[in-house]
Amino acid sequence: MNLRWLSLSVAALAVGLCCGGCRDAPGRPGAAVTRPDKVTDFRLLYRQNCAACHGVRGDYGDAISLNNPVYLAIAGTVNIQKITANGVPGTLMPAFAKSQGGMLTDQQVAILAQGVESAWGRSNALGGQTAPPYAGSTAGDPSAGQKAYGTFCASCHGVEGQGVVNAKLHTGSIVDPSYLALISDQGLRSLILAGQPQEGMPDWRSDLQGTGARSMTDQEVTDIVAWLASHRVAAPGQFYSHP
Ligand code: HEC
Ligand code: HEC
Repeated sequence: MNLRWLSLSVAALAVGLCCGGCRDAPGRPGAAVTRPDKVTDFRLLYRQNCAACHGVRGDYGDAISLNNPVYLAIAGTVNIQKITANGVPGTLMPAFAKSQGGMLTDQQVAILAQGVESAWGRSNALGGQTAPPYAGSTAGDPSAGQKAYGTFCASCHGVEGQGVVNAKLHTGSIVDPSYLALISDQGLRSLILAGQPQEGMPDWRSDLQGTGARSMTDQEVTDIVAWLASHRVAAPGQFYSHP
């Protein structure tokens, strides 16, 4: 190991950290330097670790919006804490707990999970109704899922999931293997359970005015996820043709 190279890179890292991380110039009176593992402020932790992918306001990215109160009520602090600690294998969501190779202490992970809930959660977000559970418990049946998809989703996402573009609506394909490669089955389930209210996508209650739609059951949500997942291919990103 070349020690000279090592100490140079440590010095460069220290300078880099300070330029990027400190608001005040080093040495200025009052400039507080907090060790990264001592940061306990939710907003700062969120900005440093999560905002790049989930947006400063929690409403960005391929994942469910973290600022969706229906999502927060269904997932609950325990699941959010687990996912933040362990990440989601096979997606861009990293593991943050030190025990999983991340940079955050267990306390910081807990502060993030509680902070997300208290910043964006809302009491009675489910209006007293009981949602299907956060996680599915069966494998799901893709062909039953295709039928349920026709009932609950096709009007906005097209008969085959290819998307709809008209004067009122613009949705992209949700069966495109490149999209499905970015999101896990749980990620899809979260979107179906909690919807995308800012975009006009309803949650599991599917309360579209005038359509007489009823709420989805746990099994229907599970089956729809299985149908979407059946469009995954082994090597996404390679050439494929649109149907
Ligand atoms: C009333 C219209 C509407 C209904 C019904 C609806 N969606 Fe959506 N959905 C949207 C809109 C609008 C978006 C955001 C635009 C986009 O991402 O294409 C969206 C986004 C999504 C996304 C995220 C796509 C992405 O690129 O991030 C998924 C997955 C999805 N919907 C699946 C479903 C499924 C499955 C159903 C049925 C259970 C459903 N949607 C029902 C309107 C709807
Ligand atoms: C490099 C990008 C990236 C960063 C940084 C990131 N996330 Fe994620 N996150 C994702 C992606 C992508 C998903 C969707 C994973 C999936 O498909 O299940 C996700 C999913 C999640 C979920 C689960 C959503 C669900 O469906 O239940 C939670 C909770 C979450 N992130 C919280 C956080 C928190 C808190 C931080 C900061 C400590 C963070 N994320 C940082 C990319 C990121």
